[in-house]
Amino acid sequence: MTDLKKEINKLKEKKNAVILAHYYVEPEVQEIADYVGDSFYLAKIAKNSEADTIVFCGVEFMGESAKILSPEKTVLMPDASADCPMAHMATAENVLKVKEKYDDVAVVCYINSSAKLKSVSDVCVTSANALNIVNALPNKNIYFIPDKNLGSFVKKNSDKNIILNEGWCPIHNEITAEDIKAVKEAHKGVKVLMHPECTDDVLSYADYIGSTSGIIDYSEKSEDKEFIIVTEIGVIYELQKRNPDKKFYFPEPLPVCADMKKITLEKVLDCLENGLNQVEVDEEIKEKALIPLNRMLELAR
Ligand code: 13P
Ligand code: SF4
Repeated sequence: MTDLKKEINKLKEKKNAVILAHYYVEPEVQEIADYVGDSFYLAKIAKNSEADTIVFCGVEFMGESAKILSPEKTVLMPDASADCPMAHMATAENVLKVKEKYDDVAVVCYINSSAKLKSVSDVCVTSANALNIVNALPNKNIYFIPDKNLGSFVKKNSDKNIILNEGWCPIHNEITAEDIKAVKEAHKGVKVLMHPECTDDVLSYADYIGSTSGIIDYSEKSEDKEFIIVTEIGVIYELQKRNPDKKFYFPEPLPVCADMKKITLEKVLDCLENGLNQVEVDEEIKEKALIPLNRMLELAR
């Protein structure tokens, strides 16, 4: 073990801290984490952990959700500038306008959103549970924020009247049908596993659509030996760890989330050592945003 990793482990014990990491962060960061997973899994861990401090190796909305679910804990971000652009691609003003227009509307907020957006929403969802939660709601009208692509995927698979918002993931939204055709042409007959943040056009080529954990589980359980993976490249670490005998291909250009890649071991050590980048959420927003997050956890059970 490198000195850096030893140092992190020592401090973690001293401070009763736990390290959470998303599948998109660099392999060496995933390696030192206590828990690695998709957004849904990490939110549940953050809520239930008994640690005093959570170091969240991911982007801002993940740290904020951890703080909202576990306000008594110290939540540290290794890089305070690591943010998901999509989290800001909707406005509270528009939410209020839609609420005025439809009296029975439920505002369904993808967890990739700011705390402020959560605070004006009825229920949160992640890519692992969006479809089931929307279908379980009593409301006919659903305003789905901020991701138009995940919203559209849900719309296609539900009888609800889903109103979409103009937001998207800059990484998944960039992947084109041409990119998929090219990778399929190079690897004929290989199943295509995709994240629902991709466009409708791209998703029409999928054999399976699911969250990062869903994609990883599918490839592990399948008898197939090769897969085309259409999500951010970071998942390759867990895919290869679980399936050393299987092959994984990605579309070109490789989907890379620059914000997730900002997290380094040096920054993990620095924030743990010096208590840097503590997540703070305004009290009123925290209280209001807890309601849709808890509702998600209840409905997803
Ligand atoms: P998952 O919840 O599927 O891991 O997705 C998070 C994310 O940011 C996808 O771009
Ligand atoms: Fe946000 Fe896209 Fe990065 Fe996920 S991959 S954190 S949705 S920018």
